[in-house]
Amino acid sequence: MTEAAQTADDTQPLSPAMPERDLFSKFDPLIAEREALLATGVRDPFAIVMDQVTSPTEAMIQGRKTILLGTYNYMGMTFDPDVIAAGKKALDEFGAGTTGSRVLNGTYDPHTDCEAALREFYGTKHAMVFSTGYQANLGMISTLVGKGEYVILDADSHASIYDGCWLGNAEIVRFRHNSVEDLDKRLGRLPKEPGKLVVLEGVYSMLGDVAPLPEMVAVAKKHGAMILCDEAHGMGFFGEHGRGVFEEMGCSDDIDFVVGTFSKSVGTVGGFCVSNHPKFEVLRLVCRPYVFTASLPPSVVATAATSIRKLMHAGEKRAHLWKNSRRLHQGLRDLGFTLGTQTAQSAIIAVILPEQDTTVRMWQALLELGLYVNMARPPATPAGTFLLRCSLCAEHTDDQVGEILEKFAAAGRAVGCLS
Ligand SMILES: Cc1ncc(COP(=O)(O)O)c(C=O)c1O
Repeated sequence: MTEAAQTADDTQPLSPAMPERDLFSKFDPLIAEREALLATGVRDPFAIVMDQVTSPTEAMIQGRKTILLGTYNYMGMTFDPDVIAAGKKALDEFGAGTTGSRVLNGTYDPHTDCEAALREFYGTKHAMVFSTGYQANLGMISTLVGKGEYVILDADSHASIYDGCWLGNAEIVRFRHNSVEDLDKRLGRLPKEPGKLVVLEGVYSMLGDVAPLPEMVAVAKKHGAMILCDEAHGMGFFGEHGRGVFEEMGCSDDIDFVVGTFSKSVGTVGGFCVSNHPKFEVLRLVCRPYVFTASLPPSVVATAATSIRKLMHAGEKRAHLWKNSRRLHQGLRDLGFTLGTQTAQSAIIAVILPEQDTTVRMWQALLELGLYVNMARPPATPAGTFLLRCSLCAEHTDDQVGEILEKFAAAGRAVGCLS
């Protein structure tokens, strides 16, 4: 569209004549389902706007002070004064963005410093920063396993792991969620020679359950496979140094690649992979989601580096987060809710509800009481479950956890989930 045409009539549709075969028709069932839901008067759970965010645990949503229980800000680093100062300094010194790929003009001093911070945090020889965690999985998986090789993944893996498999040319094998036996069986059926990569997650983000990593690792090793572990939801508060579930479970020497994100405990945006593999650095030349995209703004990687270094010494925060998680889990169970795990296994507590209508009504009732949680539904959730996903923060106070439980009790009674 020319500039003149745009000025003349900004409302002109981009594609005025409806084509014979509308590519959007495949979305009609979803559009109809959404319209039917909104027609009942509920708010759209996937279109929430935070008008103002006042702390890691509170925001103003539609003029109401709201407790945030649906962020991945596990360690509450988003408002850390040192983290913010580092971002401002880098913004002043390096500008707003790099306008280029890491392999051309997009590597600035804060990018290499951020990779140094990751190497310190994980105690590894190599660290590679991607623009998001999604891209880290996309890049690592699609590049590591090629044609004639095998990638073996848990059925409940995150979308970025699935997409990494689909972007590559390897054969894809799925095993039953967290089943060591099924992993063993499926690996045992594969030919011995070709390269294999088993992809695991420390914490599975929908139900908040953890993987039996030592058993999984033993099976993968028995069959000669390499292992990549996504610690998106484990970094910061599992293990002595906060490295993740693999550290907590004593698997540090057996995992070949750890993938993670800055969008959760680190409190900003970005992704990474760390490893001790001697040939790791070649990935910078062959990994397409690393090469063919712009690098993160220097202010972002500077905040990430500061946050990561602070997380190395965050023992008290870790302890408080675990206390919050156990208390909320017990409290919700005592109220009579069905939860995704028997005990608090991580900072994610999933409240399982029978179907979409009740889940949305419960979600809305909580929001009206000043509590934001995530609503999750298929295809993001396993086996057609509808759930309200609560994720705790190390900055939630004891009073806030008490308030959260009161709000769940009130909403549950209002909606009829609790007697
Ligand atoms: C397990 C897992 N891996 C990767 C990602 C992607 O991270 P990012 O938000 O940095 O793209 C997520 C995000 O939710 C995740 O849950």
